[in-house]
Amino acid sequence: MIALRVAGTGRFLPEREITNEDLSRTLDTSDEWIRSRTGIRRRRILDPGDPPADMGVAAARAALKRAGLTPRDVDLLLVATNVPEEIIPGSAPFIAEGLGLSHEPPFFDVKAGCAGFVFGVAIAGALMESGLAGNALVVGIEALSRFVDWEDRKTCVLFGDGAGAVVLVRDSGGERGILGVSLHGDATKRELLRIAAGGVRLPASPQTVAEKKHFLEMKGRGVYQSAVTMMERATVEAAQRAGISLSDIDWLLPHQANLRIIEALVKRLGFPRERVLVNIDRVANTSTASIPILLDEAVRDGMIREGHILALTAFGAGACYGTVILRW
Ligand code: UT7
Repeated sequence: MIALRVAGTGRFLPEREITNEDLSRTLDTSDEWIRSRTGIRRRRILDPGDPPADMGVAAARAALKRAGLTPRDVDLLLVATNVPEEIIPGSAPFIAEGLGLSHEPPFFDVKAGCAGFVFGVAIAGALMESGLAGNALVVGIEALSRFVDWEDRKTCVLFGDGAGAVVLVRDSGGERGILGVSLHGDATKRELLRIAAGGVRLPASPQTVAEKKHFLEMKGRGVYQSAVTMMERATVEAAQRAGISLSDIDWLLPHQANLRIIEALVKRLGFPRERVLVNIDRVANTSTASIPILLDEAVRDGMIREGHILALTAFGAGACYGTVILRW
Protein backbone atom coordinates (compact mmCIF):
# COMPACT_ATOMS: atom_id res chain seq x y z
CA MET A 1 0.00 0.00 0.00
CA ILE A 2 1.13 3.55 -0.70
CA ALA A 3 0.06 5.59 2.33
CA LEU A 4 -1.40 8.87 1.16
CA ARG A 5 -4.51 10.99 1.40
CA VAL A 6 -6.41 12.93 -1.25
CA ALA A 7 -6.39 16.19 0.67
CA GLY A 8 -8.30 18.22 -1.91
CA THR A 9 -10.05 18.00 -5.24
CA GLY A 10 -11.04 20.70 -7.73
CA ARG A 11 -12.54 21.14 -11.17
CA PHE A 12 -13.15 23.77 -13.77
CA LEU A 13 -15.65 23.65 -16.62
CA PRO A 14 -15.93 26.43 -19.20
CA GLU A 15 -19.17 28.44 -19.19
CA ARG A 16 -20.20 27.86 -22.78
CA GLU A 17 -22.51 24.89 -23.16
CA ILE A 18 -23.30 23.19 -26.46
CA THR A 19 -26.28 20.83 -26.56
CA ASN A 20 -26.93 18.02 -29.00
CA GLU A 21 -29.67 20.19 -30.51
CA ASP A 22 -27.13 22.96 -31.10
CA LEU A 23 -24.90 20.49 -32.97
CA SER A 24 -27.75 19.14 -35.03
CA ARG A 25 -28.26 22.63 -36.49
CA THR A 26 -24.88 22.54 -38.27
CA LEU A 27 -24.20 18.80 -38.58
CA ASP A 28 -26.03 15.81 -40.00
CA THR A 29 -26.76 14.41 -36.54
CA SER A 30 -29.53 14.39 -33.95
CA ASP A 31 -30.04 14.49 -30.21
CA GLU A 32 -31.56 11.02 -30.44
CA TRP A 33 -28.51 9.53 -32.21
CA ILE A 34 -25.99 11.08 -29.86
CA ARG A 35 -27.95 10.27 -26.71
CA SER A 36 -28.75 6.68 -27.61
CA ARG A 37 -25.23 5.85 -28.86
CA THR A 38 -23.20 7.69 -26.21
CA GLY A 39 -25.35 8.96 -23.33
CA ILE A 40 -24.15 12.52 -24.01
CA ARG A 41 -26.68 15.38 -23.88
CA ARG A 42 -24.42 18.42 -23.67
CA ARG A 43 -20.82 19.49 -23.28
CA ARG A 44 -18.83 22.56 -22.22
CA ILE A 45 -16.51 24.14 -24.76
CA LEU A 46 -13.70 26.58 -24.07
CA ASP A 47 -13.98 29.87 -25.93
CA PRO A 48 -11.53 30.22 -28.81
CA GLY A 49 -8.54 32.21 -27.61
CA ASP A 50 -8.88 31.21 -23.94
CA PRO A 51 -5.77 29.30 -22.84
CA PRO A 52 -6.62 25.75 -21.69
CA ALA A 53 -3.96 26.05 -18.96
CA ASP A 54 -6.18 28.57 -17.19
CA MET A 55 -8.71 25.77 -16.64
CA GLY A 56 -5.99 23.60 -15.09
CA VAL A 57 -4.82 26.45 -12.86
CA ALA A 58 -8.37 27.10 -11.65
CA ALA A 59 -8.94 23.40 -10.87
CA ALA A 60 -5.58 23.18 -9.10
CA ARG A 61 -6.25 26.31 -7.01
CA ALA A 62 -9.61 24.87 -5.93
CA ALA A 63 -7.97 21.55 -4.95
CA LEU A 64 -5.20 23.31 -3.00
CA LYS A 65 -7.72 25.51 -1.21
CA ARG A 66 -9.76 22.50 -0.13
CA ALA A 67 -6.57 20.80 1.04
CA GLY A 68 -5.75 23.88 3.14
CA LEU A 69 -2.47 24.23 1.23
CA THR A 70 -0.87 26.91 -0.91
CA PRO A 71 1.06 26.59 -4.19
CA ARG A 72 4.23 26.83 -2.06
CA ASP A 73 3.36 23.40 -0.59
CA VAL A 74 3.45 21.63 -3.97
CA ASP A 75 6.51 19.36 -4.18
CA LEU A 76 5.57 17.74 -7.48
CA LEU A 77 3.24 18.76 -10.32
CA LEU A 78 2.05 16.24 -12.91
CA VAL A 79 -0.17 17.38 -15.75
CA ALA A 80 -2.04 14.78 -17.77
CA THR A 81 -3.17 15.97 -21.18
CA ASN A 82 -3.41 14.81 -24.78
CA VAL A 83 -3.03 18.22 -26.31
CA PRO A 84 -0.28 20.36 -24.78
CA GLU A 85 -0.28 24.15 -24.61
CA GLU A 86 2.79 23.97 -26.86
CA ILE A 87 4.46 20.87 -28.31
CA ILE A 88 7.59 22.03 -26.49
CA PRO A 89 7.54 22.47 -23.48
CA GLY A 90 4.12 20.86 -22.98
CA SER A 91 1.54 22.00 -20.43
CA ALA A 92 3.08 21.54 -16.98
CA PRO A 93 5.25 24.70 -17.12
CA PHE A 94 2.16 26.75 -17.98
CA ILE A 95 0.29 25.39 -14.96
CA ALA A 96 3.36 25.96 -12.76
CA GLU A 97 3.57 29.53 -14.04
CA GLY A 98 -0.14 30.14 -13.47
CA LEU A 99 0.11 28.84 -9.92
CA GLY A 100 3.30 30.82 -9.30
CA LEU A 101 5.44 27.83 -8.27
CA SER A 102 8.49 30.05 -7.71
CA HIS A 103 10.12 27.46 -5.41
CA GLU A 104 10.75 25.37 -8.55
CA PRO A 105 9.33 21.93 -7.77
CA PRO A 106 9.63 19.31 -10.53
CA PHE A 107 6.84 19.26 -13.07
CA PHE A 108 6.16 17.30 -16.22
CA ASP A 109 3.40 16.17 -18.55
CA VAL A 110 2.00 12.66 -18.46
CA LYS A 111 0.98 11.51 -21.91
CA ALA A 112 -1.04 8.31 -21.69
CA GLY A 113 -4.12 9.22 -23.72
CA CYS A 114 -7.32 9.54 -21.73
CA ALA A 115 -5.71 7.29 -19.08
CA GLY A 116 -3.20 10.06 -18.29
CA PHE A 117 -4.81 11.09 -15.01
CA VAL A 118 -4.88 7.50 -13.70
CA PHE A 119 -1.23 7.06 -14.73
CA GLY A 120 -0.44 10.43 -13.10
CA VAL A 121 -1.94 9.43 -9.74
CA ALA A 122 0.00 6.14 -9.82
CA ILE A 123 3.28 7.88 -10.73
CA ALA A 124 2.77 10.56 -8.08
CA GLY A 125 2.04 7.87 -5.48
CA ALA A 126 5.20 5.97 -6.42
CA LEU A 127 7.35 9.11 -6.22
CA MET A 128 5.83 9.97 -2.85
CA GLU A 129 6.40 6.43 -1.59
CA SER A 130 10.04 6.51 -2.70
CA GLY A 131 10.63 9.76 -0.84
CA LEU A 132 11.29 11.72 -4.04
CA ALA A 133 8.21 13.88 -3.49
CA GLY A 134 6.15 15.14 -0.58
CA ASN A 135 2.85 16.70 -1.60
CA ALA A 136 1.83 16.09 -5.20
CA LEU A 137 -0.59 17.97 -7.40
CA VAL A 138 -2.02 15.95 -10.30
CA VAL A 139 -4.00 17.86 -12.91
CA GLY A 140 -5.99 16.48 -15.84
CA ILE A 141 -6.70 19.11 -18.47
CA GLU A 142 -8.20 18.83 -21.91
CA ALA A 143 -9.36 21.11 -24.69
CA LEU A 144 -9.91 18.60 -27.46
CA SER A 145 -12.42 21.04 -28.99
CA ARG A 146 -9.33 22.65 -30.54
CA PHE A 147 -8.37 19.40 -32.28
CA VAL A 148 -11.65 17.94 -33.47
CA ASP A 149 -12.98 18.58 -36.91
CA TRP A 150 -16.30 20.30 -36.25
CA GLU A 151 -17.49 19.00 -39.62
CA ASP A 152 -16.88 15.36 -38.63
CA ARG A 153 -19.96 14.05 -36.85
CA LYS A 154 -18.12 10.84 -35.91
CA THR A 155 -15.81 12.64 -33.50
CA CYS A 156 -16.88 16.18 -32.65
CA VAL A 157 -20.09 15.20 -30.85
CA LEU A 158 -18.15 13.11 -28.32
CA PHE A 159 -15.85 15.54 -26.57
CA GLY A 160 -16.03 18.38 -24.06
CA ASP A 161 -13.42 20.62 -22.44
CA GLY A 162 -12.53 20.91 -18.78
CA ALA A 163 -9.98 20.30 -16.05
CA GLY A 164 -9.79 18.54 -12.71
CA ALA A 165 -7.12 18.25 -10.03
CA VAL A 166 -6.22 16.39 -6.87
CA VAL A 167 -3.74 17.14 -4.11
CA LEU A 168 -2.07 14.06 -2.65
CA VAL A 169 -0.35 14.26 0.74
CA ARG A 170 1.50 11.64 2.78
CA ASP A 171 -0.61 9.91 5.40
CA SER A 172 1.65 7.52 7.27
CA GLY A 173 0.21 5.26 9.91
CA GLY A 174 -3.34 5.23 8.60
CA GLU A 175 -5.27 2.96 6.30
CA ARG A 176 -5.75 5.48 3.54
CA GLY A 177 -3.83 5.34 0.32
CA ILE A 178 -3.32 3.56 -2.96
CA LEU A 179 -4.19 -0.08 -2.35
CA GLY A 180 -3.54 -1.47 -5.82
CA VAL A 181 -2.49 -0.36 -9.28
CA SER A 182 -2.63 -1.94 -12.71
CA LEU A 183 -1.18 -0.02 -15.67
CA HIS A 184 -0.83 -1.36 -19.20
CA GLY A 185 -0.29 -0.38 -22.82
CA ASP A 186 -1.19 -2.22 -26.03
CA ALA A 187 0.77 -0.72 -28.91
CA THR A 188 -1.03 -2.89 -31.47
CA LYS A 189 -3.93 -0.47 -30.90
CA ARG A 190 -1.77 2.62 -31.50
CA GLU A 191 -3.72 3.73 -34.55
CA LEU A 192 -7.18 3.64 -33.00
CA LEU A 193 -6.93 7.23 -31.83
CA ARG A 194 -4.45 9.73 -33.18
CA ILE A 195 -3.60 13.16 -34.46
CA ALA A 196 -1.33 12.19 -37.31
CA ALA A 197 0.41 15.48 -38.11
CA GLY A 198 2.34 18.06 -36.15
CA GLY A 199 4.82 15.62 -34.63
CA VAL A 200 8.21 14.63 -35.99
CA ARG A 201 6.82 11.85 -38.21
CA LEU A 202 4.64 14.22 -40.13
CA PRO A 203 5.55 17.83 -39.43
CA ALA A 204 3.01 20.54 -40.15
CA SER A 205 2.87 21.66 -43.77
CA PRO A 206 0.28 23.29 -46.03
CA GLN A 207 -0.53 19.76 -47.23
CA THR A 208 -1.15 18.36 -43.71
CA VAL A 209 -3.47 21.29 -43.03
CA ALA A 210 -5.31 20.83 -46.33
CA GLU A 211 -5.71 17.10 -45.61
CA LYS A 212 -7.07 17.81 -42.10
CA LYS A 213 -4.30 15.75 -40.54
CA HIS A 214 -4.16 17.95 -37.46
CA PHE A 215 -7.57 16.79 -36.30
CA LEU A 216 -8.33 13.82 -34.09
CA GLU A 217 -8.86 10.60 -36.06
CA MET A 218 -10.65 7.75 -34.38
CA LYS A 219 -11.69 4.21 -35.23
CA GLY A 220 -14.74 4.39 -32.99
CA ARG A 221 -15.74 0.72 -33.13
CA GLY A 222 -12.19 -0.45 -32.37
CA VAL A 223 -11.89 1.91 -29.43
CA TYR A 224 -15.25 0.80 -28.13
CA GLN A 225 -14.37 -2.90 -28.24
CA SER A 226 -10.94 -2.49 -26.65
CA ALA A 227 -12.07 -0.08 -23.97
CA VAL A 228 -14.38 -2.49 -22.23
CA THR A 229 -11.93 -5.40 -21.98
CA MET A 230 -9.02 -3.12 -21.07
CA MET A 231 -10.79 -1.46 -18.15
CA GLU A 232 -12.12 -4.83 -17.03
CA ARG A 233 -8.66 -6.41 -17.05
CA ALA A 234 -7.03 -3.50 -15.23
CA THR A 235 -9.75 -3.31 -12.58
CA VAL A 236 -9.68 -7.03 -11.84
CA GLU A 237 -5.88 -6.96 -11.66
CA ALA A 238 -5.73 -3.86 -9.45
CA ALA A 239 -8.27 -5.41 -7.06
CA GLN A 240 -6.21 -8.60 -6.88
CA ARG A 241 -3.09 -6.57 -6.13
CA ALA A 242 -5.00 -4.64 -3.48
CA GLY A 243 -6.09 -7.92 -1.92
CA ILE A 244 -9.77 -7.00 -2.16
CA SER A 245 -12.71 -8.33 -4.10
CA LEU A 246 -14.71 -6.18 -6.51
CA SER A 247 -17.60 -6.15 -4.05
CA ASP A 248 -15.38 -4.25 -1.57
CA ILE A 249 -15.27 -1.29 -3.97
CA ASP A 250 -17.68 1.44 -2.89
CA TRP A 251 -17.41 3.61 -6.00
CA LEU A 252 -16.27 2.88 -9.52
CA LEU A 253 -15.14 5.98 -11.41
CA PRO A 254 -14.70 4.96 -15.05
CA HIS A 255 -13.37 7.25 -17.75
CA GLN A 256 -16.42 8.92 -19.28
CA ALA A 257 -16.07 8.07 -22.97
CA ASN A 258 -19.42 6.53 -23.74
CA LEU A 259 -22.27 5.43 -21.46
CA ARG A 260 -22.59 2.17 -23.37
CA ILE A 261 -18.90 1.40 -22.72
CA ILE A 262 -19.46 2.07 -19.01
CA GLU A 263 -22.55 -0.13 -18.93
CA ALA A 264 -20.82 -2.98 -20.76
CA LEU A 265 -17.87 -2.74 -18.35
CA VAL A 266 -20.12 -2.82 -15.31
CA LYS A 267 -21.97 -5.82 -16.69
CA ARG A 268 -18.75 -7.75 -17.33
CA LEU A 269 -17.46 -6.92 -13.86
CA GLY A 270 -20.81 -7.84 -12.28
CA PHE A 271 -20.61 -4.53 -10.43
CA PRO A 272 -23.73 -2.79 -9.08
CA ARG A 273 -24.74 0.06 -11.39
CA GLU A 274 -25.78 2.29 -8.49
CA ARG A 275 -22.17 2.41 -7.29
CA VAL A 276 -20.85 3.67 -10.62
CA LEU A 277 -20.33 7.42 -11.00
CA VAL A 278 -21.40 8.95 -14.30
CA ASN A 279 -21.53 12.53 -15.59
CA ILE A 280 -21.03 12.00 -19.33
CA ASP A 281 -24.58 13.26 -20.01
CA ARG A 282 -23.59 16.76 -18.81
CA VAL A 283 -19.92 17.10 -19.75
CA ALA A 284 -19.27 14.50 -22.49
CA ASN A 285 -15.80 12.97 -22.82
CA THR A 286 -13.31 15.37 -21.24
CA SER A 287 -10.48 12.86 -21.74
CA THR A 288 -7.77 13.17 -19.05
CA ALA A 289 -10.00 15.54 -17.08
CA SER A 290 -12.95 13.17 -16.89
CA ILE A 291 -12.04 11.24 -13.74
CA PRO A 292 -10.88 14.20 -11.62
CA ILE A 293 -14.00 16.17 -12.62
CA LEU A 294 -16.20 13.21 -11.69
CA LEU A 295 -14.31 12.75 -8.43
CA ASP A 296 -14.64 16.39 -7.43
CA GLU A 297 -18.38 16.36 -8.14
CA ALA A 298 -18.86 13.25 -5.98
CA VAL A 299 -16.75 14.66 -3.15
CA ARG A 300 -18.70 17.97 -3.24
CA ASP A 301 -21.97 16.02 -3.23
CA GLY A 302 -20.86 14.18 -0.07
CA MET A 303 -21.02 10.78 -1.75
CA ILE A 304 -17.41 9.85 -1.08
CA ARG A 305 -16.57 9.53 2.59
CA GLU A 306 -13.57 8.53 4.67
CA GLY A 307 -12.87 4.82 4.42
CA HIS A 308 -14.59 4.37 1.07
CA ILE A 309 -12.74 2.33 -1.53
CA LEU A 310 -12.63 3.89 -5.00
CA ALA A 311 -11.56 2.36 -8.31
CA LEU A 312 -10.46 4.87 -10.96
CA THR A 313 -10.23 3.19 -14.36
CA ALA A 314 -9.45 4.55 -17.80
CA PHE A 315 -8.27 3.72 -21.30
CA GLY A 316 -7.13 5.93 -24.11
CA ALA A 317 -4.82 6.60 -27.02
CA GLY A 318 -1.72 4.50 -27.20
CA ALA A 319 -3.54 2.32 -26.20
CA CYS A 320 -2.79 3.03 -22.54
CA TYR A 321 -5.09 1.76 -19.84
CA GLY A 322 -5.12 1.25 -16.11
CA THR A 323 -6.86 1.25 -12.76
CA VAL A 324 -5.90 2.75 -9.42
CA ILE A 325 -7.67 1.58 -6.27
CA LEU A 326 -7.69 4.05 -3.40
CA ARG A 327 -8.94 3.97 0.15
CA TRP A 328 -10.33 7.48 0.84
O1 UT7 B 1 -11.64 8.41 -24.83
C1 UT7 B 1 -11.77 7.57 -25.97
C2 UT7 B 1 -12.52 8.30 -27.02
N1 UT7 B 1 -13.29 7.56 -27.95
C3 UT7 B 1 -14.30 6.73 -27.66
O2 UT7 B 1 -14.59 6.39 -26.55
C4 UT7 B 1 -15.11 6.21 -28.80
C5 UT7 B 1 -15.64 4.85 -28.59
N2 UT7 B 1 -16.57 4.51 -29.62
C6 UT7 B 1 -17.85 4.91 -29.57
O3 UT7 B 1 -18.26 5.53 -28.61
C7 UT7 B 1 -18.75 4.54 -30.72
O4 UT7 B 1 -18.07 3.72 -31.60
C8 UT7 B 1 -19.29 5.80 -31.43
C9 UT7 B 1 -20.29 6.52 -30.56
C10 UT7 B 1 -18.15 6.73 -31.79
C11 UT7 B 1 -19.98 5.41 -32.72
O5 UT7 B 1 -21.03 4.49 -32.44
P1 UT7 B 1 -21.18 3.18 -33.35
O6 UT7 B 1 -22.40 2.51 -32.88
O7 UT7 B 1 -19.89 2.43 -33.25
O8 UT7 B 1 -21.46 3.77 -34.79
P2 UT7 B 1 -20.60 3.56 -36.13
O9 UT7 B 1 -19.29 4.29 -36.05
O10 UT7 B 1 -20.57 2.12 -36.47
O11 UT7 B 1 -21.51 4.33 -37.14
C12 UT7 B 1 -22.85 3.90 -37.44
C13 UT7 B 1 -23.51 4.93 -38.33
C14 UT7 B 1 -22.67 5.36 -39.51
O12 UT7 B 1 -23.52 5.58 -40.60
P3 UT7 B 1 -23.59 4.53 -41.79
O13 UT7 B 1 -22.20 4.43 -42.35
O14 UT7 B 1 -24.05 3.24 -41.15
O15 UT7 B 1 -24.58 5.13 -42.71
C15 UT7 B 1 -22.09 6.68 -39.10
O16 UT7 B 1 -21.78 7.54 -40.18
O17 UT7 B 1 -23.74 6.12 -37.56
C16 UT7 B 1 -23.24 7.24 -38.30
N3 UT7 B 1 -22.83 8.27 -37.35
C17 UT7 B 1 -23.64 9.25 -36.95
N4 UT7 B 1 -24.92 9.52 -37.24
C18 UT7 B 1 -25.48 10.60 -36.66
C19 UT7 B 1 -21.62 8.42 -36.75
N5 UT7 B 1 -21.66 9.51 -35.96
C20 UT7 B 1 -22.89 10.05 -36.06
C21 UT7 B 1 -23.53 11.16 -35.48
N6 UT7 B 1 -24.81 11.40 -35.81
N7 UT7 B 1 -22.89 11.99 -34.62
